[in-house]
Amino acid sequence: QTIFVLNGPNLNMLGKREPGIYGGKTLQDVEADCKAVGRELVFDIDFRQSNHEGTLVDWLHEANDKAVGVAINAGAYTHTSVALHDAIRAISIPVIELHISNVHAREEFRHKSMIAPAVKGVICGFGPYSYILALHALKNLTA
Ligand code: DQA
Repeated sequence: QTIFVLNGPNLNMLGKREPGIYGGKTLQDVEADCKAVGRELVFDIDFRQSNHEGTLVDWLHEANDKAVGVAINAGAYTHTSVALHDAIRAISIPVIELHISNVHAREEFRHKSMIAPAVKGVICGFGPYSYILALHALKNLTA
C-alpha cells in the first residue's frame, strides 16, 4: 500500500527557512522520518515536493491510481488554490491536509484554507511531527 506525501512551495527550503517557525529539520530529514514510520505501518511512502501548483494537481490525480491515501502540506497554495481544492474533490482516496506550524496562531491570511473543505481532516501545529500524525491518521482510515 502506497501513500503519497506531497509538499508544496518553499518546503524545499525547510531547515533554512524561518527556523523559528518551521524548525531545523530539512525536508530530507522529514522524508527519512516518514519512511521509517511508513515501514512500521507497512506503507510505501512516495515523498515529493514541487513549487508548482499544476504539478501538485497532476500528482493528486496520479495518487488516485497508485496510492491508498495522500498527506499534503500544500504550503501557501493552501490559502489560495481552488485548483487543489478541485483536484482533491476529483479523487476518491482520502486526503489529509497538514501543516508544520499552527496556521491559526499566525497571520490572518493563513487562517483560511481553500482545501480544508475538500479533505478528510486537518493536522497542524506539531512541527514535523504533523507528518507522522497524518500517516497514523491515514493508517486508521485505510485499515
Ligand atoms: C505551512 C503553513 C503555510 O501557511 C505556509 O505558507 C507554508 C508552510 C506549514 O507547514 O506550516 O509554506 O503549510
